[in-house]
Amino acid sequence: MKALVTGIAGFVGSHMAEFLLERNIEVVGTIRNRSRMEHITHIQDQIRLIECELRDPFSVESLLTQEKPDLIFHLAAQSFVPTSWNSPIDTIHNNVAGQLNIFEAVRRLNLSCKIQIACSSEQYGHVEPHETPIREENPLRPLSPYAVSKAAQDYLGYQYYKSYGLHVIRTRTFNHTGPRRGEQFVTSNFAKQIAEIEKGIRPPIVSVGNLSAQRDFTDVRDVVRAYWLALESGEVGECYNIASGSCVTIREMLDMLLAMSTVQIDTVPDPSRMRPSDVEILLGDASKFEQRTGWKPEIPFEQTLADLLQYWRQLV
Ligand code: GDD
Repeated sequence: MKALVTGIAGFVGSHMAEFLLERNIEVVGTIRNRSRMEHITHIQDQIRLIECELRDPFSVESLLTQEKPDLIFHLAAQSFVPTSWNSPIDTIHNNVAGQLNIFEAVRRLNLSCKIQIACSSEQYGHVEPHETPIREENPLRPLSPYAVSKAAQDYLGYQYYKSYGLHVIRTRTFNHTGPRRGEQFVTSNFAKQIAEIEKGIRPPIVSVGNLSAQRDFTDVRDVVRAYWLALESGEVGECYNIASGSCVTIREMLDMLLAMSTVQIDTVPDPSRMRPSDVEILLGDASKFEQRTGWKPEIPFEQTLADLLQYWRQLV
């Protein structure tokens, strides 16, 4: 069994690779020439890395002609919401064209591989209070160019299944975090600031954005197990929420991190961290996926945050 992981050097990609190696799956991953490699240096001799620009159809077709994987975990993306306001065209192009090039190559080469695509709870966007916990039938009301790019990926997954019979499973993952989370994302950003304060290299004040938003967090290690199960026993063409089923405000998440710290820390609002429109609540109902695959998140959020803080304490 051979698996292709796009974006293998990224946060989720590196955890996906570790998960697959533990199951003795052959792992091939795509990187770009400017990819940072620190998340995969410890497994670099067990995986095969191929430089591939997913936005380039020729690059993707030659990759798939050469590799013919059984499974594709399509994780590569521009995944930071604020970047999508600064670079909307880049975000849409990167996320949508990258996936289309994979689909087109799979179709033209007549490959029978199973493809997981990383869609997002951000697609639900504006959610009315009576609509939580959010189910897959909820309307999509995206509030950022990123969310629109993920909605496009999602619909293209459905369309390529219906039109050409591609074996696509769409996972709509709610927020996820854990060691190696990129430092611009909120959990990592706060944990890194706290670790720097503890080291004495930053004054004891954490800069924050919108603390009233509510998010449903799952540990990345539970998420990659979900992606595996999605391809193992998900129904082709379907979309599935991946979520813990409970949510916290960003303020509550910050307080949990602060409670793990050894020093007294204040917070200060930073207007540059506010968004033109923020998704106020994302609370997911993953029962469709749980019933189909038997998946349940196993790592408590406190443990995830403790591991993340420890990760930053070692790095800063
Ligand atoms: N990044 C960041 N930095 N967010 C902050 C901050 C801050 O200093 N302060 C408050 N927030 C709030 C944001 O306004 C948002 O409401 C929430 O914290 C989470 O922000 P992010 O961690 O940047 O994640 P996200 O919810 O926008 O998107 C993440 O989850 C999606 C799934 O729902 C990303 O991982 C996406 O790639 C993913 O699809």
